[in-house]
Order: sequence, then structure tokens, then C-alpha cells
Amino acid sequence: MVVPKPEVKLHYKNVMSDVIGDEHGITPAQLKDLAKQTSPLIQQLNEERQAGETPYRDLPYNSEISRQVKELVKELKGRCENLVVFGIGGSALGNIALQTALNPYMHNLDDTQRTGPRLFIFDNIDPPQLVSFLDWLGDKLDKTIFNAISKSGWTAETAAQFMIVRRLLLDKLGPADCKKQVITTTDANQGILRRIANNAGFTSLVIPEGIGGRFSVLSAVGLFSAAMCGIDIDSLLAGACDMDTRVKCEDFYRNPAAINAAINYHFYKRGKKISVMMPYSYHLRDLADWYRQLWAESLGKAEDLAGNEVHIGPTPVKALGTTDQHSQVQLYREGPNDKLFTFLQVSNFDKDLKIGPAPDYVPELGFLAGKDLSELLNNEKRATEYGLLESERPCLTVLFDRVNAYTVGQFIYLFEVTASFAGALFGINPYDQPAVELGKEAAFALMVKPGDYETGCTYEEFAKKIQSLTEIDEKFLV
Ligand code: PA5
Repeated sequence: MVVPKPEVKLHYKNVMSDVIGDEHGITPAQLKDLAKQTSPLIQQLNEERQAGETPYRDLPYNSEISRQVKELVKELKGRCENLVVFGIGGSALGNIALQTALNPYMHNLDDTQRTGPRLFIFDNIDPPQLVSFLDWLGDKLDKTIFNAISKSGWTAETAAQFMIVRRLLLDKLGPADCKKQVITTTDANQGILRRIANNAGFTSLVIPEGIGGRFSVLSAVGLFSAAMCGIDIDSLLAGACDMDTRVKCEDFYRNPAAINAAINYHFYKRGKKISVMMPYSYHLRDLADWYRQLWAESLGKAEDLAGNEVHIGPTPVKALGTTDQHSQVQLYREGPNDKLFTFLQVSNFDKDLKIGPAPDYVPELGFLAGKDLSELLNNEKRATEYGLLESERPCLTVLFDRVNAYTVGQFIYLFEVTASFAGALFGINPYDQPAVELGKEAAFALMVKPGDYETGCTYEEFAKKIQSLTEIDEKFLV
């Protein structure tokens, strides 16, 4: 018997005009136009990929990375009770998403469920948070591996976290043992983190060239912490490969990334500038956070490819079902009709609960008794979707047959390639992030970095400019 592979599919009926009307929905003629506009881009993206211009597309096939990761995991597993990831943006969000999606909710707390170390991912530099963690860690430093991840190797937050822990390790364990507790993940040749790894002799994993943070989760960036914590990275990559064959398909109507991008583009152009992703699954919640970065950094751009000022880009918002039904849905249904909704729905939950019997004195609750909790969750999704459709709000659904490494790999790759298609439709470069870089440079200046920020302007001069704009002015303090 052939067991069908679990799959992730895109359902787009509820963006169409026969469901939500001509004013807000896509008419069959408009869908035809979108197909016409997007179809040449399928070939264009396939060619760019062949020419090596989008190296993230090759990650699912890169067996060398997974071999290195697995080897390292084997080496470390016996002596690692806690894995700490330092990274930010694309160097952390994918790791968080994989952990939430694929390990049990109680992974860190339940020694019997856990198949690897506890995982702590610090994607911020909040002092009390880190102090609290390091206090808890106490004398467990020798059973803890620190994975510092930075593509550029230059990010101040990650550098600061690393420097705090390096001092601790040197003080408590000494230089020889300090070396054993740190793994760096960074560029093969460039950046400060590379220089540190080479000088200190830290074991190091490489992020291949030309892959921005938000496209890097299927490299060592995301694979190492995932594999350490028992996630099946082979299935994750196999799922991505499977999706690759679907998003290469030159038939627009059979290509989920092309359709997804075209629909997003269509609604943005018609005033729906906000894109809400709303998983109805705890496990999928942080994929919405990962998506938020992918969308915002890839599509939010000042200039198009011809250098015209465009200031374009949908605003991604994450919500969670059912939690945000009781927080956001009032606005979503009755506020401005300026949003496209993408639900994430799971058909088969691996674990489920039966709702208990109603107490005799509240027979009114009998209708819930004996039903699966997943039935309630999925019906809550349908209830929300129904309300939105009644108010003519377009809704997409990404349907997960079940949540496992294979389908999560499919989802990640589907949205990465959707971002590439959307970039092409918007006519912008989805692979750079100049605005993020400016923030990094400004922080350097304020932290008194020596040298030149740019030709004719030292960091010191740059800092003065920033200070005059950002200092708290007593006159306006109430
Ligand atoms: O997507 C990106 O490129 C950024 O969000 C980066 O991931 C983020 O700024 C962290 O950069 P780095 O990995 O260089 O430390």
C-alpha cells in the first residue's frame, strides 16, 4: 500500500468574487489577467535559479550542510543539556518557528518527552531577561552549548550577547574548555564572527553566500538547533524539495507560490495593504512570526528595480486562532476592509482530546461533550472565516494535512518562493534590506564606534546627527 505524503495546499476559493462579490473579490477575468502577468515570471524565476542568482533555492538539496550538522549533533549530544542560540531576525526567527512547530509544548520542562537539549533562543538583548537566564544557568555552563549565529558577523546585539557569555566561559571554565562550548554559524570568510571563530578555534558552521537571513532557515542557521533538539531535518528538507517541484511548475494554476503571490499582489493594488496570517494551531504560531519578517523585509521597499521611488509593501500582521478571535476579529470584520487574511489550518492533529461530559446541572453544554477539541478549533476557524466572508473580506487558507517536519518544510519553501514571486510582481528587489542596515549602522554610531560611517562622515558625526533628532526634549515631556 502506498501511504500518501502529508501535504500543504493553498485554498483560494474565498478570495473569489462569486464568494465575496465583485467589489472585493477577484473576478474570473481578473484571475486570468493575473495568470497572464505572473506566468512569464515563473520562467524568469526558474532561469534566475538556474543561473545561481537565488541560492536559497538550492538549500533543500545541499546534503553537505545536513551531513555537517548531523555530525556535529552526534559529537555534542552527550554533553549538551542546554542549547542557547544567540541571533536576531533571520538568524533566530526560523529556529524559533521550527522549535515551536515540531517539538512538544513542554519540550524544555519535561525530561521524559525531550529527545535533545533544552533550547533557549535569545533574539533580543533585554538585560533582565538575560540576567534571569544566566542566573538559572549558574554552574551548568559546561553542559551548555552556545550557538552564535550571524550572517554578516557584524550585528551588535549578537556580538554583545556573545561577549557577555565569552567572558563568563573564560572566567568559569578557562580558555581550553570555553572553546568546547561555543559553535558559531556565519559566513565562510567575512565578518567579525568569522574572525572570532578562526582565532578562538570555535567549531563553525557556514552560511552559504548570497542567502539573506530570512531565507536561511534551511541552512545551518536553522538546521543545527533543530537537529540538536530531535527534529527530523531530512524530512524538513524533503518537504522543501517536494514543494520545489510544485513551485517550478510553469502552469500558473498548478503553482501554489505563483498563485499565492498573484493574489497578494492583486489585493495590495486594490487597497488591501495589510496581510494577516492567522494560524489555528499553537504549533504553527511562530511560523506566522517568521513569515512577518519574510514579508516585511522582502517586500517593503523605497525603490523599484528601475530606481523609481515607490515606497511599496504589504504590512504583515500575525494573529492566532482562536486567541485573537477575542481580541482582533472585531476590527477585522467591522473595521476598514483593507486586509487579506491567510489562515493556517490543520486537518489532522497528532494529539487530540475528547471534551468531557457536561455536568448534570448544565445540560446546555451537552452539545460540546464527547467531541474532539480539534473539531472545536477547526470550527472556530470556519466561524471566523464565515464572519469575514459575510463582510466581504478575502480569505486564503493554507491547509496542513498534519504538522510534521515534512509539511513545515513545504510551508517554509512555499512562502520563500512566494516572496520571490511577489518581489517580481511588485518590481522590487526582495533580497536586500537597506533600511535594516541603516538601523545597525546608527546603533554602532551611538555606541561610539570609531572610524568612518561613510565617505566624508565619521561615526562620531553620524552619532551627533542621530542624537539631535532622538534626544528627549524636556519641553515636550508631560
Ligand atoms: O533577513 C535579514 O537579512 C536580517 O533580518 C538579518 O537576519 C538580521 O538583521 C541579522 O543579521 P545577521 O545574521 O547578519 O546578524
